[in-house]
Amino acid sequence: MSEDPASIDRYGVMGYPISHSRSPVIHRLFALQTGQRLQYELLHVAPEKLEQAVRQFQRTGGKGLNVTVPHKAAVARLCDQLSERAREAGAVNTLAFQDGDVFGDNTDGVGLIRDLETNLGIRLKGARILVLGAGGATLGITGPLLRRLPSELVIANRTLSRAEAIVERFDEALALSACAFDTVPDGEFDLVINATSAGVHGETPPYPATAVAGKTLCYDLSYGLKPTPFSEWAREAGAARSVMGWGMLVEQAAESFHLWRGVRPDTAPVLKQIAISA
Ligand code: ATR
Repeated sequence: MSEDPASIDRYGVMGYPISHSRSPVIHRLFALQTGQRLQYELLHVAPEKLEQAVRQFQRTGGKGLNVTVPHKAAVARLCDQLSERAREAGAVNTLAFQDGDVFGDNTDGVGLIRDLETNLGIRLKGARILVLGAGGATLGITGPLLRRLPSELVIANRTLSRAEAIVERFDEALALSACAFDTVPDGEFDLVINATSAGVHGETPPYPATAVAGKTLCYDLSYGLKPTPFSEWAREAGAARSVMGWGMLVEQAAESFHLWRGVRPDTAPVLKQIAISA
């Protein structure tokens, strides 16, 4: 007997634009792997329609949403409750609808940490880390990175005041400092993370090449079918490895899936599958 599609739990991802999103594929693979029955939709939602779209999804029985660019900060204001990490990031990428309430969480930071530590085998404790950019993406990863106790975490940004503002939010953290691209402290970093949106616009700003040497892992939070401008820059600068954020994408999705379904999928085969089809 075939099952009534209306009885299958509904999830989705809201963004603008959204057609490029890999989240439906990833969540379908997780569902298959864990034997969970769910549907996952792509939802193209303009900023001025965000609240209406979220409320309607909830009203019509939707169980949870992922929220992506440009909605991550705005959607936090629609939540009845926020997780500690969403509050810290000032942004939400996962909504769960529970008993009429909207719960907002942010799984981006933990997704990055899992990819770095578990998938790529990086030791963050004691590492010298440089983050390029000081927008929403940086805000989301700063707390999770600091909790791994790096020896130094430097945030470099085109607009120095934005990097300084993030440092002030975490003012108890002695290891944290702000600078411009041309005043990055001397010496090689273990890890350089690109959290700017420059590559999305096809731009390669004057990133600090002196930060990169033979030991450095360069990690781009962005990902693409071809190497991103930052990953090309990193190779030319002599990085030991240059990695795009496919792993973070899959890991943050796994954390959302766990929040919604109470089951943690095995990310390795899914990462392999989407990387092959990318
Ligand atoms: P997100 O939420 O994706 O981080 P955002 O808050 O708009 O988006 O932040 C974008 C980041 O990319 C900022 O750090 C921005 O630098 P500024 O603060 O100076 O604007 C950075 N960025 C975007 N385009 C850039 C470019 N062409 N060169 C250097 N930095 C750029």
